[in-house]
Amino acid sequence: MVTIPAITLNDDTAFPELGLGTYRLTGAEGVDAVVSAIAAGYRLLDTAVNYENEREVGDAVRRSDVDREELLVTTKIPGRDHGFDETIASARGSLHRLGLDRIDLYLIHWPNPRVGRFVDTWRAMIALRDEGLVRSIGVSNFTPAMLARLMDETGVVPAVNQVELHPYFPQAELRAFHATNDIRTESWSPLARRSELLSESVIQRIAERHAVTPTQAVLRWHVQLGSTPIPKSADASRQRENADVFGFSLGDDEVAEISALERGRLWDGDPQTHEEF
Ligand SMILES: NC(=O)c1ccc[n+]([C@@H]2O[C@H](COP(=O)([O-])OP(=O)(O)OC[C@H]3O[C@@H](n4cnc5c(N)ncnc54)[C@H](OP(=O)(O)O)[C@@H]3O)[C@@H](O)[C@H]2O)c1
Repeated sequence: MVTIPAITLNDDTAFPELGLGTYRLTGAEGVDAVVSAIAAGYRLLDTAVNYENEREVGDAVRRSDVDREELLVTTKIPGRDHGFDETIASARGSLHRLGLDRIDLYLIHWPNPRVGRFVDTWRAMIALRDEGLVRSIGVSNFTPAMLARLMDETGVVPAVNQVELHPYFPQAELRAFHATNDIRTESWSPLARRSELLSESVIQRIAERHAVTPTQAVLRWHVQLGSTPIPKSADASRQRENADVFGFSLGDDEVAEISALERGRLWDGDPQTHEEF
């Protein structure tokens, strides 16, 4: 089992430097996959209402041998539940499906700026946190201007912003904004959904030099950028491989070489225009 180190969020919560993505992990196989990840050392689990697997993640938490207090379960509010009362109801639905009495990290899944209700949603999340139903609150797919609006209008800084981030889209400007405001960056699709990233010659060369796999080189790059990657794998041996990135370090030049693969988003997920409900 790997021990995944943790950093401290702006609300004093210990937060793992790597977690498990669960998109598409559904049904009995999904539960087995999350149980095997917990056994491998994962403590941060990332689900969402829209992944339709909150039940599976909750079942895995109960089936695992690890104490509930050591695990951090993330879920996310879908666009259709934006608004104060809607968010309170959405949280209760998630808690019910998870079968847990607390959500450890609660995120706004997409800002949907044309709907214009993410500040009301954020106010409800602050209330849920104050009530103890949620431990940490954050957002996903927010731009610096949207983050600034939340902070200006409520005085509460999100603990986390989970965004698309991988070597093809390193998000330097957004990460700098997060660093200035003590917001933890979390990387979704950290392996660029596998794609051709893992066969890029620069990644292969750096991986060989450190006697690790290309996936491990990429995940280590995230860790050294100061972002928590949440790679998804349904396979126990790939889960172990992905978590085992804390025994080597890349040089600054190698981090820069990987970042130079930048070419943009994987698909048209620009938070200014993309909406999800
Ligand atoms: N907030 C958002 O809007 C948002 C959007 C997208 C995703 N997410 C979250 O981010 C998580 C991760 O992103 P993702 O699932 O899109 O993509 P990803 O983690 O970048 O890539 C997952 C793909 O890589 C494969 N893979 C994993 N480990 C591997 C290894 N060691 N060697 C070779 N292939 C490997 C997986 O296959 P196997 O399963 O067969 O190993 C799967 O096909 C999601 O599951 C979800 O929790 C959030």
